[in-house]
Amino acid sequence: MRLIHTAAEIEAFVEETKAAGQTIAFVPTMGALHDGHLTLVDLAWQKADFVVVSIFVNPKQFGANEDFDKYPRTLNEDAKLLETKNVDALFAPSVEEIYPPEGVREQRAGVVGSTFEGASRPGHFDGVLTVVGRLFDLVQPDVAIFGAKDAQQLFMIKKLAGALYNDTEIVTAPTHREPSGLALSSRNRYLSESQKTSATALYKALKTLRQPLSLTIEAARTLIDSTPETKLDYVAVVDPEIFRPVNDDFRGKALAIVAAKVGDTRLIDNLELELTEPNR
Ligand code: PAF
Repeated sequence: MRLIHTAAEIEAFVEETKAAGQTIAFVPTMGALHDGHLTLVDLAWQKADFVVVSIFVNPKQFGANEDFDKYPRTLNEDAKLLETKNVDALFAPSVEEIYPPEGVREQRAGVVGSTFEGASRPGHFDGVLTVVGRLFDLVQPDVAIFGAKDAQQLFMIKKLAGALYNDTEIVTAPTHREPSGLALSSRNRYLSESQKTSATALYKALKTLRQPLSLTIEAARTLIDSTPETKLDYVAVVDPEIFRPVNDDFRGKALAIVAAKVGDTRLIDNLELELTEPNR
């Protein structure tokens, strides 16, 4: 595996690869890799000849009071895990390589970017889209793999790719869960054992949602808020095509989304639903 730290070097690597007629599958991450990330790499291998993973803790997507400084940085362990998956190149740039003094193309997340995660984390999605755009410009992937757990992020990255990166196919990897139902996340490292138990309330709550949503969402709120050390941010059901809330009349495929703080750790999760007539 090649460990690449500079923009010039990854550009040269990509040029060589493309000149040899090889395709690239790309897995962008912030590191602190877990089994969920490794399933993204497995999926990447099904899609292209070369696999590139990036590890970059992107300052632009963290708010002033968030965990940028304490976000786990475990490059050596991550590199060992990626070696076991035969990854061709690990791109681990510095902030200066990603955001050079001459500037990069800034992306704006628009209206959906200021709802749900974006309402609680102003500017977060502008930061995510800007770094994803910059990474796509450098890596020029044929395919890029993202986890379904970050549903709103995925929604917006698909929009970005549709508008500006038509040659890159966005592939979704299903959420990887612990046997308890807890969705794997790099931030789970912050949780104590009792908090990990509390955190399972998010998935449990999602599984209770059905029509009439006005009633079941209220019950899901109560379930989460009555869990020790847990404070709900939002629970909602959205139309996955537009990422806007649906009402009690909605039938068909929907997406239930939730965010809550467990102790000091903010967690998100989601679940696809098929909404039908309520049982009488
Ligand atoms: O999902 C993540 O790990 C990050 O938001 C991403 C897509 C790598 C951008 O920094």
